[in-house]
Amino acid sequence: MRSNATSADQPTKPASGWQTMMRVGPYLWPADQPWVRHRVMMALGFLLAAKMVSIVTPYIYKLAVDMLSQEAANDPAWMLTLGAVGLTVAYGMARLGAVVFGELRDAVFVRVGQRALRKLALETFTHIHRLSLRYHITRKTGGLSRVIERGVKGVDFLLRFMLFSIGPLILELSMVSIIFAVVFGWQYAAVVVVTIALYVAFTFKVTEIRVRIRRQMNDQDADANQKAIDSLLNYETVKYFNAEGREASRYDAAMQGYETAAVKTGQSLAFLNAGQSFLITSGLIIVMVMAARGVQAGTLTVGDFVMVNAYMIQITMPLNFLGTVYREIRQALVDMGEMFGLLGQPAEVVDAPDARPLAVSGGEIVFDDVRFSYEPSREILKGVSFRVAPGERLALVGHSGSGKSTIARLMFRFYDVTGGAIRIDGQDLREVTQGSIHASIGVVPQDTVLFNDTILYNIAYGKDGATEAEIVAAARAARIHDFIVSLPDGYDTRVGERGLKLSGGEKQRVGIARTLLKNPPILILDEATSALDTQTEKSIQESLNEMGQGRSVIMIAHRLSTIADADQILVMEEGRVIERGRHEDLVARGGRYAAMWAQQVAEEAAEAA
Ligand SMILES: Nc1ncnc2c1ncn2[C@@H]1O[C@H](COP(=O)(O)OP(=O)(O)OP(=O)(O)O)[C@@H](O)[C@H]1O
Ligand SMILES: [Mg+2]
Repeated sequence: MRSNATSADQPTKPASGWQTMMRVGPYLWPADQPWVRHRVMMALGFLLAAKMVSIVTPYIYKLAVDMLSQEAANDPAWMLTLGAVGLTVAYGMARLGAVVFGELRDAVFVRVGQRALRKLALETFTHIHRLSLRYHITRKTGGLSRVIERGVKGVDFLLRFMLFSIGPLILELSMVSIIFAVVFGWQYAAVVVVTIALYVAFTFKVTEIRVRIRRQMNDQDADANQKAIDSLLNYETVKYFNAEGREASRYDAAMQGYETAAVKTGQSLAFLNAGQSFLITSGLIIVMVMAARGVQAGTLTVGDFVMVNAYMIQITMPLNFLGTVYREIRQALVDMGEMFGLLGQPAEVVDAPDARPLAVSGGEIVFDDVRFSYEPSREILKGVSFRVAPGERLALVGHSGSGKSTIARLMFRFYDVTGGAIRIDGQDLREVTQGSIHASIGVVPQDTVLFNDTILYNIAYGKDGATEAEIVAAARAARIHDFIVSLPDGYDTRVGERGLKLSGGEKQRVGIARTLLKNPPILILDEATSALDTQTEKSIQESLNEMGQGRSVIMIAHRLSTIADADQILVMEEGRVIERGRHEDLVARGGRYAAMWAQQVAEEAAEAA
């Protein structure tokens, strides 16, 4: 299970249109959910019924006309008994029937569609959480959620329009062509088919061009918008430099681009509509002239003439939306392709097929010549080895960027090592499940990020189903309880986006509280108290020490006084351990640690004075 550093660098590859459509299929025809299949069958049944009814409607209309124009001599006997009035009523019922069946179809299908959308959204969401930290650092989070949103919308659109607009349209066109061919002769069908073919070709062609113009228009719009926002954000700067005039002309230049593109959009729409109308009307006139001549020659009735017209109107009505539908479908395919591309993105860190849960007995941690690089070209850890005996406290110190937080990330298996091995109680991290590692290790990260919710929610996050008493106990231990109750809203205070309404130290203590609540056998503190004043730090340190009793702890610290009593101190430099030992030994040795210690003691003395 070696990590593949290059995979995350490649952009997500969108799936092709056809692949994308095939991906949706299983959601509409799931093997394990018969009710979905039943509903789909029912919806298709209603669809067919609606089309059948709408196909006979013009025929009934024709019969009524024939009846009224006394040409019904050779019509079936049952029709004569129905009479002209009866036929007219039947015509009305048929029209109503087509609508009712159509609505029934929608009502039955909506549940299938919505369930498919929900499943897809959930699958994508869970998949995104499975992707590596590396992936998430490189992608913009807002972009990811927009991919889901747009993708799901795309699927929704495609379902509705492919199944209930394009599909029925094709069905109806074929049926009408067949009726024309059988009843009036192949020439009629040929005219219809050619007309529709020309219409579709014209519409697609012009729409392609319009899509490009539309994109230009949107770009120009975004550009103008951005200039306006930037200018308003810099309100003060604009005033300082007397630049209102300059800003206005910059904005106007951007708006001018938009105007040009918008005019082109409007004009091309007019062209599209006119062209469509021309083609359809030509086809209509040709068929109607043919029918008129048939009536004159006595081979067709007036009812036939009317029926031809009714069919033509019926099939051309939905064609009006073809341009829009085509454009939207193309957009939907692009959006869905992006989402399925994301779903196809492999997770970098995956459980081995035979992975077992991590069994923590004492909590021994062993780093065995660990090598690691985020990017192949730059090695961050260059052979780090250490052992934390069960219940021991290990401290990592060293310059910024020497790889301390990286060690914590590897322990939590955000990444797999590129060389060597990490073992907890003798089990290689790559051979156990990620879930069990995450459950066994508590991390207070270097910078705590909070959910945009209440303080209570954020602390309770540490343990599913935590009681109020447990939460308060954790908050007390993290020395934040008194602060919380002093707030007007107490534990129900909202912390704002990413917790920005709290100070750095308050956030850090909330982070400590929720890890205390999690109560894991192994604890990693990455500068957990760096944002606190010395007084608060001392007092939290006590409760962290209490909590550390009987657990293995890895502490990362800048302020050496907080780790002076650790069982083992490692001094890191550029991905290597350059010194190790207990505080007294390291000070006595007079190496790098001793120098750092002397400097901090001097600084503290200066501060005190
Ligand atoms: N996702 C990443 N991709 C590439 N390089 C990274 C990434 N994260 C960290 N690094 C690099 O790895 C090196 C070690 O980073 P790390 O966060 O482990 O340092 P640190 O010892 O914790 O430093 P500090 O004391 O400032 O927290 C740094 O030089 C950093 O630039
Ligand atoms: Mg760090």
